[in-house]
Amino acid sequence: MKQLYGLIGYPVGHSLSPLMHNDAFENLGIDAHYEAIQIEPDSFKVEVEKLKKQQIKGFNVTIPYKVDIMDLLDEVDPLARAIGAVNTVVNQNGRYVGYNTDGDGYVASLLQHVGGTLKDKAVAIIGAGGAAKAIFYTLASHKDSPSSFYICNRTVEKAQRLIDQLPFQANASAITLDEAEKKVDTFDVIINTTSVGMHPDVEDAPIDIQHIRPETIVSDIIYNPLETKLLKEAKQKQAYCHNGVGMFVLQGALAFEKWTGIVPDQKKMEQIVLKKLTEK
Ligand code: ATR
Repeated sequence: MKQLYGLIGYPVGHSLSPLMHNDAFENLGIDAHYEAIQIEPDSFKVEVEKLKKQQIKGFNVTIPYKVDIMDLLDEVDPLARAIGAVNTVVNQNGRYVGYNTDGDGYVASLLQHVGGTLKDKAVAIIGAGGAAKAIFYTLASHKDSPSSFYICNRTVEKAQRLIDQLPFQANASAITLDEAEKKVDTFDVIINTTSVGMHPDVEDAPIDIQHIRPETIVSDIIYNPLETKLLKEAKQKQAYCHNGVGMFVLQGALAFEKWTGIVPDQKKMEQIVLKKLTEK
């Protein structure tokens, strides 16, 4: 019988995950289907219980359920617990276990893209929401963790809370977006985790990076558009640019591996996603 996988969220209509995962299942000859499963907030619990009864093999979780799903699982991995969000659920012999592959997907993509190590680097993370938390906690727990972090947020208290909640020590400071702009030439890596610059607001950028050093790494987790205003400005300044496609593909590839035990072809997954993102 065809095995069921999926993505739960609200809304999920525009997700590229079904395309990417179904192609990987087909290429590997696995008899499985990945579906976008839209669940209305009122019926969240009931619908998740139904999926579990159907013995769904695994699923991804997106907005707005990454936090609420944790109460419905048998176990939550410690990093996902620390991040406070689950994006991947695995059916392990009937027990549902939650993970977070967003942070690992992001860090793996960044390292693949820029090469080398992030050790001794000063990293500025713009934003202090769920995505920032996943990336900050994963980078801070990495074996080659950066030497310092600046969590830059419009609401600086929220950035401070992110630092205070980190379950281990890191050299991190909370600063405002204005302060970040003033210090921009001291950062080695700048990571935008906010939605500022995302389609349709393509003329917006979260901070002004006029004064960055040429060799700065500028990374944006947005992939629509592929080149945000922030990345366009970074390119003009001869910075290394990294967009959000890699994070999206690798969080998916890591989820796929957790479900099947097989490492999928990441290049093929990326091609599928890029083709869809660039078709008119
Ligand atoms: P996600 O889970 O995708 O990270 P989130 O938890 O809603 O989303 O967090 C969004 C982040 O983007 C926050 O840091 C938010 O700043 P505030 O904490 O001050 O709200 C930031 N953000 C969103 N819109 C912004 C804007 N127009 N300018 C600056 N920051 C913005």
